[in-house]
Amino acid sequence: MYGPIWKSWFGSMININIGSPEALEELVRQEGKYPIRSDMALWKEHRDKRHLPYGPFTEDGERWHRLRQVLNKRMLKPSEAMLYADVINEVVSDLMVRLEDERNKSPSGISYILFETRIGCLEKQIPAETQRFIDAIGYMLKNSVFATILPKWSRDVLPYWNRYLDGWDTIFAFGKKLIDQKMVELEKHLEQGEEVSGYLSYLLSSGRLSHEEVYGSIAELLLAGVDTTSNTLSWALYHLARNPDIQEALYQEVTNAVPKDRIPNAKDLTRMPLLKAVIKETLRLYPVVPTNARIIAENDVVVGGYQFPKDTLFVLAHYAISHDESNFPEPEQFMPRRWLRDQRDLSPHPFSSIPFGYGVRACVGRRIAELEMHLALARLIRIFLIRPDPQQTEVKPLARIVLVPDRPINLEFLDRQTKL
Ligand code: HEM
Repeated sequence: MYGPIWKSWFGSMININIGSPEALEELVRQEGKYPIRSDMALWKEHRDKRHLPYGPFTEDGERWHRLRQVLNKRMLKPSEAMLYADVINEVVSDLMVRLEDERNKSPSGISYILFETRIGCLEKQIPAETQRFIDAIGYMLKNSVFATILPKWSRDVLPYWNRYLDGWDTIFAFGKKLIDQKMVELEKHLEQGEEVSGYLSYLLSSGRLSHEEVYGSIAELLLAGVDTTSNTLSWALYHLARNPDIQEALYQEVTNAVPKDRIPNAKDLTRMPLLKAVIKETLRLYPVVPTNARIIAENDVVVGGYQFPKDTLFVLAHYAISHDESNFPEPEQFMPRRWLRDQRDLSPHPFSSIPFGYGVRACVGRRIAELEMHLALARLIRIFLIRPDPQQTEVKPLARIVLVPDRPINLEFLDRQTKL
């Protein structure tokens, strides 16, 4: 409605909104060595109050850069992410069993990757502590919305502020307990001269982060891993259920790529272009981070012929860009084939859908998230015929900092008689 670039106010704060792929590309290509997402004041307030260290979301400048150099290892490159394929497949196998059983769970495998320990999301009875942790994330995010829009004086008279802090405290306490357990295990291994593997073991034994810093980073990584892959996968299944022809084509692709007696592995995924396109299209329609931000502190920038002083807050309107008809014909339709190589003449601008962000500040978990979603979707499609719940009305996205479905997604899973 407002064109590629427009100004808006949030209270007294001026936002420069970026609404076209060209303007977005021009901006982020000038972001420099230490891009800042936004000031993250609310999250920092919690850390400062509790004397906790900042993690990758809250840290900035050289300290952030140092942190990312450590966190990126064993995560960022596709070849490194592949190391977690077996771990992910173990979680996916449990998910299949649970779907057979109850057919209503959608977990995330990130905790297993980070902690090398299962936290019980797929057990019949989710352990109370794990459930408290999952609830705390929703609780913290919900109350952070009030904390953003209400004046500071209301924190003393309304309950949202303490609820917001409590949410974070539960998230940190959960992470800390698992890290402490891992440290005890690790010491035993090291005493016995055994090698350690796994992400948390790597962070703890790298000698590049203090234990305090590991607490700060793991809490933020954990948070980023919940509600992201699981929601994306749920949206993908929602649309596949409503588009039986696409589901059938995907089923054919997966069954042709992997023999029935073998579980799909990371290498098999290279023969599944439609599967990858389904996830890309899902993230175009439902970008987990619907609007992102950048503050470029190092220099002034020029975008769309306008000059902006350093420290200008740019809001990146990803949802608007990826739903814009001029970037994607029939933008509200679920059309994964638009991402396939033979459709390249319709090729969208490379910045018209960048669900994992851009540059050095882009998502650290991207490769793991993709691997997790690809492996899970390949298995689900092979084992089940997925149908919509006839009672279900249209599910719409809701921006709760991250984009979430506005109601539970209900589906029918019919057995295809394939067990692996
Ligand atoms: C569907 C899954 C996911 C999507 C779509 C997603 C998307 C994003 C986006 C858009 C950003 C901001 C990037 C930028 O500003 O340029 C981000 C940052 C981040 N993500 Fe993800 N993410 C996903 C899963 C994960 C997972 C599983 C992890 C945990 C390993 C993770 C960890 C992070 C972290 C730590 C950051 C902050 C990086 C920094 O500021 O340096 N994400 N993610």
